[in-house]
Amino acid sequence: MTLHGSTQTSSEGTSADEQQLGQRRQLERMFQESPLPPEHLMFNLGMYTRSSVLVKFLFMNDIYQRIRHLPGVLVELGVWWGQNLVLLENLRAIHEPFNKQRIVVGFDTFSGYRTFTDKDIRGDVMSDGTYATPPSYRDYLASLLEAHEGANAFGHQRGNHRLVEGDATQTVPKYFADHPETLVAMAFFDIGTYLPTVEALKAMKSSLMPGSVLVFDELTWPGAPGEAIAFKEVFRDIDYAIEKAALYPSKAIVTIK
Ligand SMILES: C[S@@+](CC[C@H](N)C(=O)[O-])C[C@H]1O[C@@H](n2cnc3c(N)ncnc32)[C@H](O)[C@@H]1O
Repeated sequence: MTLHGSTQTSSEGTSADEQQLGQRRQLERMFQESPLPPEHLMFNLGMYTRSSVLVKFLFMNDIYQRIRHLPGVLVELGVWWGQNLVLLENLRAIHEPFNKQRIVVGFDTFSGYRTFTDKDIRGDVMSDGTYATPPSYRDYLASLLEAHEGANAFGHQRGNHRLVEGDATQTVPKYFADHPETLVAMAFFDIGTYLPTVEALKAMKSSLMPGSVLVFDELTWPGAPGEAIAFKEVFRDIDYAIEKAALYPSKAIVTIK
C-alpha cells in the first residue's frame, strides 16, 4: 500500500523527505514540459521513470519468470489505474508471445475502497472511496489493454483480458464459479482489507497448483492487518513457501508446494 490516490489526488503516501519530494516535483515538471515529441516521449519513458517505479517493472518480471512454465490465469485483486495489468500483458508478449491462452483478470470496484470490517483499519490511504477512478475508467483501461494486445505479436487475436467490476467479496467467488476451468498461475493481492481478500483466497484455493505464486502487497503492514488475517485463516492447511521480495521488501511471495 505504498501509493494512494483518487480522481482528485494522485499523491504518494511516501517516506521521502522534503528534498526528495522537491526532486520528484522537478521530474514531474520536466516530464510535463518535455521537449521530446510524443512518439519519442512514448519510446523514451525511461528518461522520466524513477527507481521506485522501475523496481515495480523488475519485480513483475521476476514474478512472471517464476510462473511462465505453468498453465493458468494471472489475477490482480485491486487494479487501480491498471499499470500491473498492462505490464502483465507486455511481459506475456515478451516471455511467451505464442501463448494466447494466458488470460489476465483484474478485479476492482473502480469506485475505490469499500467493504471494511472490524479486522481492518480505516486511514488516509484506505477508507471508503479512496482510489476511485473517474467514471467509465474501466472502459478506458479495457481499450488500453486491447491496444497493447493489438500492438504485440499475434495482435490480430485479442480478448485475453477480463476486467471484473464490483466488490471482490462477491465478484471473485462468482468468477471462479462461472469459470470452473480456471487454474491460477499467479495472483497479486493488493486490496489489503479482510473480507475481499479472504473470499478471494477461499474462491481460488482449489484452482491453485504446485508452483502457483501469490503475491501479497503488504502482508506485514500494521496499517492493513486484514490481509494477513485472511492469509493465515485460509493457508492453515496449505503447504507453501514464503519469502520477502528481494528488490521490494514490502511484498511477500508465496509459492504453493
Ligand atoms: C492499493 S490499490 C491497488 C493498486 C494497484 N494494484 C497498483 O499496484 O497500482 C487498491 C485497489 O483496491 C480496490 N478495492 C478496494 N476495495 C475493494 C473491494 N471490496 N472490491 C474490489 N476492489 C476493491 C480499490 O478500488 C483500489 O483500486
